[in-house]
Amino acid sequence: MYNSRITGLGYYVPDNVVTNDDLSKLMDTNDEWIQERTGVKERRWIPKESDDTSAVMGAKASRIAIERAGLTNDDIDFIVFATLSPDYFFPGCGVQIQDMLAMPTIGAIDIRNQCSGFIYAISTADQFIKTGMYKNILVIGADYHSNALLKTTQGRGTAVIFGDGAGACVLSRTEDNTKGVLSSHLHSEGKHADKLIVESPSVRNWVTDLIASKGDDVSYYPYMDGTFVFKNAIVRFSEVIMEGLNTNNLTPADIDLFIPHQANLRISQYVQKKFGLRDDQVFNNIQKYGNTTAASIIIALTEAWEQGKVKENDTVVLAAFGSGFTWGSVIIKW
Ligand code: COA
Repeated sequence: MYNSRITGLGYYVPDNVVTNDDLSKLMDTNDEWIQERTGVKERRWIPKESDDTSAVMGAKASRIAIERAGLTNDDIDFIVFATLSPDYFFPGCGVQIQDMLAMPTIGAIDIRNQCSGFIYAISTADQFIKTGMYKNILVIGADYHSNALLKTTQGRGTAVIFGDGAGACVLSRTEDNTKGVLSSHLHSEGKHADKLIVESPSVRNWVTDLIASKGDDVSYYPYMDGTFVFKNAIVRFSEVIMEGLNTNNLTPADIDLFIPHQANLRISQYVQKKFGLRDDQVFNNIQKYGNTTAASIIIALTEAWEQGKVKENDTVVLAAFGSGFTWGSVIIKW
């Protein structure tokens, strides 16, 4: 069995900054409420005239990650792409990356696990490396929310949270079994699928049905039962982090850096307090980018690494919770 290590990291966010004050012109909300309840100060939204999409942003982040890994596109053996906002229902964004980066005809899969998408993606890639099937896997998390949010007072509970962006890493084989991805734990509870969902269009409620509803049906916008999601998130985050720590005979005090999925700053702060972590042990950037879903952990990890906050031998804990419900954790020895 081999181990897998992150050898290159990159991220891309659109230039267009949307502040809370900008949103208060579209809906009944204000900077104070958004900052107090979510921590978000601003987010990046792809402007209408831009060609950016989840796949395009993913490709931009990938080019940086591959270069930093000291590799070329030809060295990549497999692509794992996590997103809830693929450019098309089908085919997936993974195959678009294969084409955009002019890679050989390597395999590519999409992971559809929303906010937990990057955790599921890195865990999937890790299994392919552990078994020896692949040496270098490109793992991407990217989401383009802004074109599909209900930007009115009716949609304010979700519209203010989400931002656009992408992150990518190269996961590479290592024979040093003391380094790299130590463990991953993945969970789901589908009975709560309707608490955070985009119901349409789906094969059960297709475009023709939506048109026939003459606009009364807004099931093509995200719906979130925010309070219910919040309550489940803090419980599942805590459980799955402990599950990872216990598997590796670690305690919260052993964590050098905790990077939670950037869902809501209050969720991150709750978990930080529960585990007694100092501010320098936790990295958050939701203030700048909002919740970028599958991209949030990998954007945060890349920024933390760029700022010198991830060092050789550090124990790094990644954890996420989101729609599905799905949740998971990954523990890495850097
Ligand atoms: N601006 C101003 N007021 C808003 C608002 C906004 N953007 N969104 C909601 N409100 C109002 C509500 O209408 C409600 O008003 P009412 O009491 O008159 O009915 C009030 O604020 C409280 O709403 P509530 O939904 O209870 O607020 P909250 O403290 O639970 O915060 C969330 C809402 C969405 C920020 C919070 O529930 C949350 O972050 N949940 C988890 C989200 C999450 O993690 N999602 C992603 C998972 S990956």
